[in-house]
Amino acid sequence: MEKLLNKNESILAVKNLRVSYHTYAGEVQSVRGISFEVDRGEVLAIVGESGCGKSVTARAIMALIQGPQGEIKKDSEIFYNGEDVLAYDKKKIREFRGGECAMIFQDALTSLNPTMKVGNQIIENLVAHRNMDKKAAKEEAIRILESVGIPNAEKRVDQYPHEFSGGMRQRVMIAIAVACNPKILIADEPTTALDVTIQAQILELINELKDKLNTAVILITHDFGVVAGMADKIAVMYAGQIIEKGEKREIFYNPKHPYTWALLNSVPKLGWKGKQLLETIKGTPPDLIAPPEGCAFAARCKYCMNICLTEEPKEYSFGDIHKAKCWLYSEEIPEEILEEIKEERRNG
Ligand SMILES: Nc1ncnc2c1ncn2[C@@H]1O[C@H](COP(=O)(O)OP(=O)(O)OP(=O)(O)O)[C@@H](O)[C@H]1O
Ligand SMILES: [Mg+2]
Repeated sequence: MEKLLNKNESILAVKNLRVSYHTYAGEVQSVRGISFEVDRGEVLAIVGESGCGKSVTARAIMALIQGPQGEIKKDSEIFYNGEDVLAYDKKKIREFRGGECAMIFQDALTSLNPTMKVGNQIIENLVAHRNMDKKAAKEEAIRILESVGIPNAEKRVDQYPHEFSGGMRQRVMIAIAVACNPKILIADEPTTALDVTIQAQILELINELKDKLNTAVILITHDFGVVAGMADKIAVMYAGQIIEKGEKREIFYNPKHPYTWALLNSVPKLGWKGKQLLETIKGTPPDLIAPPEGCAFAARCKYCMNICLTEEPKEYSFGDIHKAKCWLYSEEIPEEILEEIKEERRNG
């Protein structure tokens, strides 16, 4: 598999991914045609408001969308090392999940197996994916639990998830995820439930894994501080779509989409002296059962034009990977208008 990998090929490529859930109320279009790539040793941060499809995207990559409610729509593509993940059989999926691609779930309590000692949950993975015998796997499990900051790991390895506090459970889940030295690590809000010092340790741990094994990381977070510290690339999601993506500095210093502007204005910046007001983004995201015809952000956008209400914006390019879906960048919009908007934003 390694040999097939072209040096410039991304380890993970998602193309036109669409995921729906069929519910009594109708078809929830959770993910509506997103594309992105992640290279080895690179951190892609996915940001966006609650309900925009971040976790569903993560679950799709882990082959965890289950029918009959969940459906990955036709023409969606997910490539791992150039292999078509959506065509994997059950055996390949088992090898892929846990061994090649691991996920730290948003909700530690429901993702751990409550009937199994935490050590065994790690040992099981080590035996299956790293060909270890049980004794060596137990020693390794203790080492890993120690490395994620679980005190008394030799005793803790034989305890059940309910015997751990919330923060400790989150660490256990991280231990399970990193145990098999995955090539891709998806971390879905890995530190939201943790206090700041532990948060820093966990992020350090993810960084170490990345540096040591060249792991590609997809980091899902609400926290722009974390994004600023960790990410190489950023994808901004809104209502099931990626409305802007690019290198970290492009998104922070030269954002193009009004939603990205609003998101960035809703977090405090260094150098603010307490005078500036944090902006809240007025309104709510659209209903994903019946998403609007034009731009999904139009109803909340300060710069909404007629076309935004009727036609889905094209994706415009601003650099190698910097792209935004917004009609403001159509050839028909005069340069002066963009300048005016720039000026207005500069003056807050
Ligand atoms: N099992 C499911 N059945 C029905 N709808 C679902 C299911 N899972 C997710 N959804 C819907 O898909 C949309 C995207 O959900 P998702 O969990 O990906 O959001 P998110 O971006 O991770 O939000 P958060 O930041 O709150 O975690 C939401 O509208 C959600 O209600
Ligand atoms: Mg989520």
